[in-house]
Amino acid sequence: MSQLPKHVAIIMDGNGRWARRHKLAIALGHRKGVEALRDVIRLSSDAGIVALSIFAFSTENWRRSKEEVDALMNLILEYFRKEIDELHERDVIIRILGDKAALPQSQREAVADAERRTQNNNGLHLNIALNYGGQDEIIRAAKSLAAKAVAGEIDPEGITAQTFENELYTAGQPQVDLLIRTSGEMRISNFMLYQCAYAEMLFPEVLWPDYSVDLFKEDLKRFGQRDRRFGGRNA
Ligand code: IPE
Ligand code: IPE
Ligand code: MG
Repeated sequence: MSQLPKHVAIIMDGNGRWARRHKLAIALGHRKGVEALRDVIRLSSDAGIVALSIFAFSTENWRRSKEEVDALMNLILEYFRKEIDELHERDVIIRILGDKAALPQSQREAVADAERRTQNNNGLHLNIALNYGGQDEIIRAAKSLAAKAVAGEIDPEGITAQTFENELYTAGQPQVDLLIRTSGEMRISNFMLYQCAYAEMLFPEVLWPDYSVDLFKEDLKRFGQRDRRFGGRNA
C-alpha cells in the first residue's frame, strides 16, 4: 500500500446510537464495538502501521450514568483478560494514554500488567486512551517541565518541541498522520490535541460497531490520496 500512515488515531464513536437503533441495551453497543476494534487492530498490525491510538474512555465520559460507566469499566477489564494473549503473540506493544490512577483497582492492575507484559515487543504500538483528555495531557506535561525547572534540572529557555513531546503519553512515537472519527460527528472531543497538529482527518458516517476492515482499508486509501503540505508547497 502506498503512503501508509505511520500513526492512526481513531475516535470510536456511535456505540450508543448503534444500540438504540437495534433496540438493545447501550452496553451491547459497546460490546459490539470491541469486535470492530479487534479487526482494526489485526489489519493495523498486518499492514505494518507503526502506531494505532484508540479512544476508549475520555476524562469527560465519567459524566455518563453509573450504569454505563460500570458497563464500560467491566468491558475494559474483560478486554484485557481476553485479548492480551493474542496481542502479545502479535508482538503488539500496549501503552495506556491517560490518568490510570483514577481507574478502579482491578482495571488499573490489568492495564499495568498488559503494559509490563508487552513492553519489550517489537510490533504495532497500540495506544489505548483510558481516562484520557488531550488538555489534561498537555497540562501534565507543562507541570512536569515546570517542576523540573524549579528543581534546576532544566532551563526553561531550553524547552523545545522535542523536550515537550517527551512529556506526553506518546513520547517516542510519531505524530498522528490520520485521525478517523466514526458516526459522522465532526469534532475532536479532546483527543490527542497536540499530536494531531497536522493529522489528516476522516469522518465516516458509519457507527463504530459497523466499522469494518473494508471501510478501514478505504480510509487508508483515502489518506494515501491526500496532498499533505505541512505549510509548504508541493510542486
Ligand atoms: C463511543 O460511543 C464509545 C465511548 C464513548 C466509550 P458512544 O457511547 O459515545 O456512542 P454515541 O455517541 O452515544 O452514539
Ligand atoms: C469521544 O466520544 C470519546 C470516546 C470515543 C471514548 P464522545 O461520544 O464521548 O464525545 P462527544 O461527547 O460526542 O463529544
Ligand atoms: Mg459518542
